[in-house]
Parts: sequence; C-alpha cells; structure tokens
Amino acid sequence: MLKEINKIAQAENDAIIKTNLDYTLFSWSKQAGLNPINVRRAEGVYLYDYDGKRYIDFSSQLMNVNIGHGHPKVAEAVYKQMREVSYVTPGCTTKARGDLGKKLAEITPGTLTKTFFTLGGAEANENAIKLARLYTGRHKIITKYRAFHGASYASMSAGGDPRKVPADAQQAPNFVHVEDPFCYRCPWSQKIESCHYECASHVERVIEFEGPETVAAILMEGESGSSGCIKYPPNYWKRMREICDKHGILLIADEVMSGFGRTGKWFGIDNFGVEPDILVMAKGITAGYIPLGGLIVSEKIAAAFNDKPLMLGLTYSAHAVACAAANAVIKIYEDENLIENTVNMGRYVEERVEELKKIHPSIGDFRNTGLLGCIELVKNRDTKEPMVPWNKPAEGAIMNEVAAKIRELGMYTFVRWNYIFIAPPLCVTKEQIDEGLDIISQAISIADKHCN
Ligand SMILES: Cc1ncc(COP(=O)(O)O)c(C=O)c1O
Repeated sequence: MLKEINKIAQAENDAIIKTNLDYTLFSWSKQAGLNPINVRRAEGVYLYDYDGKRYIDFSSQLMNVNIGHGHPKVAEAVYKQMREVSYVTPGCTTKARGDLGKKLAEITPGTLTKTFFTLGGAEANENAIKLARLYTGRHKIITKYRAFHGASYASMSAGGDPRKVPADAQQAPNFVHVEDPFCYRCPWSQKIESCHYECASHVERVIEFEGPETVAAILMEGESGSSGCIKYPPNYWKRMREICDKHGILLIADEVMSGFGRTGKWFGIDNFGVEPDILVMAKGITAGYIPLGGLIVSEKIAAAFNDKPLMLGLTYSAHAVACAAANAVIKIYEDENLIENTVNMGRYVEERVEELKKIHPSIGDFRNTGLLGCIELVKNRDTKEPMVPWNKPAEGAIMNEVAAKIRELGMYTFVRWNYIFIAPPLCVTKEQIDEGLDIISQAISIADKHCN
C-alpha cells in the first residue's frame, strides 16, 4: 500500500517537473539538463519539495521573501482586496494605493514623498532613469560595473553585471560605468590606512571628462547585492551626494535588494545618513508575495510635474492587490520587529562566520550588512586568488561541487563565481542560522582542499 502511494507521489512529482521543463523557459540557464527543486510548499524559512525534503532558504529566494514564506496575513489582505476591487486604471484612486504611498513617504529618507508604482525592480529603474532625464534635461547616467539593476534594456545597460554581455550589442546608450569602491580588492591597491577615497575622486574625474552638464544622475545600489555585497566605505555615499550637489546631478539609490529591512535599516542608504533624490524599490516591498516595484521622488522633483505632464505610465501601475499586499507586508515588518531582528541576527552571523574563518582557510572575506552577506572563497588568503575565476562558468567546477553539496545537505542559497550568499528571511532565528552555517561549513570543506 505504502509502496503504491510512493509510486503515485513519484509520478506526480515527475509530471510537474516535466511540464515545467517542456513548456516554460528558465532564467539565466542552459535549458537542457536543468534539475530544479520542485517546491510543494514553503513556510517560514523553509521550502519543502514533493519528496518531503526540507530546504532552509538562506537567500530568501531572490533576496525578496524578507518576511519568510507563507505568512497568512498577506494572503488575507490579498483576498480581502480582491473581493473589494482587484483592478482599476492608474487614473483612479484606491485606499490601498493612498495608504501605501503615505507609508512609503514616512519610512523613506528626508523629503522623498511621492511614489510612482511599477511591477518590479527593472521597470522601476527604467522609470527612474527616464524621470531623471526628463527632470534634468540631461542624458548620461553614471553607474557601477559591479552592479545589477534589472534585465530590461535600460536597466541592463545601467548595470555592469556580465549577464548583459550576450545582449550588449543592443545596449541602451548614455550609461557611463565607473569602478566600484571594492576595499577587499581595491582597484587603486590601497589599504584602509592609506585610503584617500581614490574611488570617489575617480567618479568625479569621470564626470569632469564626460561634461557635468550632460550628466542626469548617479545611480547606485543602496547596498551592493548580487555582485558580492561590496560594502561602501563609510563616507562614500556622502561623497557621491556632494558631487551631485556640486554639479546639479540627481542621486538615485536602487534599493530593490537592499530595501525593506534587509540591511538592518528600512533602506541601505539609511546606514549612511544620506538622502537620495530618487529611491527605487521592489522585492521586499511585498516580500515577493505579489509583484510590485516603485520609485519615490523628492517633493522638488514631484513639484516639477505639477504644471507639465509626467510622461510615465503602465497598465498595472498601483495595482490595488499589490498595494494591499505591500501594506500588509510593511505592517508585518513593524509588528514582528523584523528590522531589529535583522540587526541582531546579522551580528550573530558575523560572529559565527568569524569562527568559521578559523577552521576554513578558503574563506577570504565576509562582507555583510544586516542580513545581506556574502562569503568570498579564495585559494590563498595572501594572494586573494579567487577559488574560481570571475565569470568563467567552464572553470567553476569547485564552486559547482560546493553548490551541489549545499543543496544535498538541504539548503537553498545563491552560489555565484567564488561567492556564497547569506541572506535568510529577516524572521530567522539563531538556531536556524546555526543550522544553515553548519551546512555551509560542510560544503566549504570541499573548497578548503584546493587552498595552496
Ligand atoms: C539591485 C537590483 N536592482 C534591480 C533588480 C531587478 O529587479 P527585478 O528582477 O524585479 O526586475 C535587482 C534584481 O535582483 C536588483 O538586485
């Protein structure tokens, strides 16, 4: 009997995977030979597949499920909103939209007041870039190489992430990339003691060369995410603000990944006491339960469109159901003290990784803010030779083995190049962090054998 039930379950499992693979396309992957986790349900920090295997989610999926999986209050809010009204054109008003706009004005820095809603992060950056150009009458956008801003054309072109390279013949024009302030691998070979913020002077020089009067905005991730959690030096954001003010350039913070408590503050830029002119958001705004993004602008920028039309528009802008989900999610961050928990659990992760460093020679660096962290594996701590070369998938065998071990031991997280990401849902507990780091520790032992 049990055998029979198992057989039926196996058949169901296989059929689901097959229809997914036969009829849908998967992001950023070769389509043949995929072996996805077939997720049946998810709760808190765990995913469960059809075989009943449990995976601890150590990346909050795409660093978006910040409140954890399966929160009933979001489902209730969505259901209630759908019963009242699911969709009206963006020209109409709804309570959910107004409430969300007001709340965002309260939790974002300074005079940021009015939000334009989109469906996700890439679209929010597209519209922020367009708005910066409309507002300033200038065309160039200064961005970083080690950054990702989305996969649509302008957002992709704004990023420097190599995922854009296969399509870069069609890049959107007028993005100028600068080096990152990557202290562990400083492009100017500086140490903290000798550093004079060459990284910031470099940006100013590039702007001088480009002609400041042609530059509409500097766009940066609030805190660096998928490029390796490259932490900004303490005064870097302030220096960017000064450069912008000097030249009449707008400062745009892309908080798609670093927003909504992820770094231990509402937004990554809050760690630096700087107010951007435009703040871009998505992911954590609904914790991934329903797609939503947005850009909030300063009063001054909003006022510039009081007497001329704001030429932005989307069918699904300010979707009532998405706004209702976001209102419920933001209330959960507050009611469950998730930002405070992020600060405490982030410190705990840092202490525990310090201990791991003592037993794993392959841990070169750990960069973390709140619960947005990344372990960088190296072959040698002195030379900092990466465990596998940057962006050469064919030479990534060691990290593939590390990633396979992580999955085998029951964890879902991001392993990219020589990086392992640690970004669990913000409701994570110490016990769950121990469980996750134990898995990572076992997997890193594979890399240790390749140290020289
Ligand atoms: C910093 C940043 N901006 C923008 C995006 C794009 O967001 P979306 O995938 O919702 O378009 C991402 C996605 O990972 C991101 O990390």
